[in-house]
Amino acid sequence: MTMTKSFAPSVERNKEPIFDILKKYISKGKLLEIGSGNGQHAVYFAEKLPQVQWTTSDTRESQTQIKLWLKEAQLKNLLGPVVLKVGNDDFPKGAFDYVFTANTLHIMSWKENKCLFKLLGKRLREGSLAFFYGPFNYNGNFTSDSNEQFNKWLKERDLRSGIRNFEDVNQSMVKFGFKFLEDFEMPANNRLLVFERLPFMAK
Ligand SMILES: C[S@@+](CC[C@H](N)C(=O)[O-])C[C@H]1O[C@@H](n2cnc3c(N)ncnc32)[C@H](O)[C@@H]1O
Repeated sequence: MTMTKSFAPSVERNKEPIFDILKKYISKGKLLEIGSGNGQHAVYFAEKLPQVQWTTSDTRESQTQIKLWLKEAQLKNLLGPVVLKVGNDDFPKGAFDYVFTANTLHIMSWKENKCLFKLLGKRLREGSLAFFYGPFNYNGNFTSDSNEQFNKWLKERDLRSGIRNFEDVNQSMVKFGFKFLEDFEMPANNRLLVFERLPFMAK
């Protein structure tokens, strides 16, 4: 059976606004994407950022879809997919200047979120940046009715998933050595959070 490439309309809608922010921070270097989905974001961003080596990753189940998108794109600076299930796997070898992840924190359990933040703290060097795109709550409040509905749907599917509190993410990232830089308001009640790795502190 031949597999056909899946297409995410949401990625078509959000890729440009996300890129408008990413390009302010990223011009060259190595980037790791967590939870690349079908690879659609990666193809768009890697083409626009030829000086950036963009490595895709996701769970084992998503590898085939990403491979289809990457094969068609034929971009020299687009690597992977790497099997990376947060909670099970470490980052691939090498030093990354950036980590980007979209629409994953509310899919992963909070335990997996904390594993991710810890890994970021362990693997990123001073000055490296982490970008989290997706919906977030503030002080436990939804920013829209549609996000509240979405959260209900998420919980019915998997009780461990759910829209994360900005404050919890920030507190955990600070614990693992990051400084909060920016919180951008994005279309469709989403946000783009940017964190910077601080110097390692001697304990
Ligand atoms: C809603 S999709 C988002 C895909 C894509 N980033 C986007 O914005 O369209 C969530 C992705 O997170 C991945 N994912 C779920 N749990 C994960 C984990 N523990 N580690 C890494 N990726 C995970 C899923 O396989 C899926 O591709």
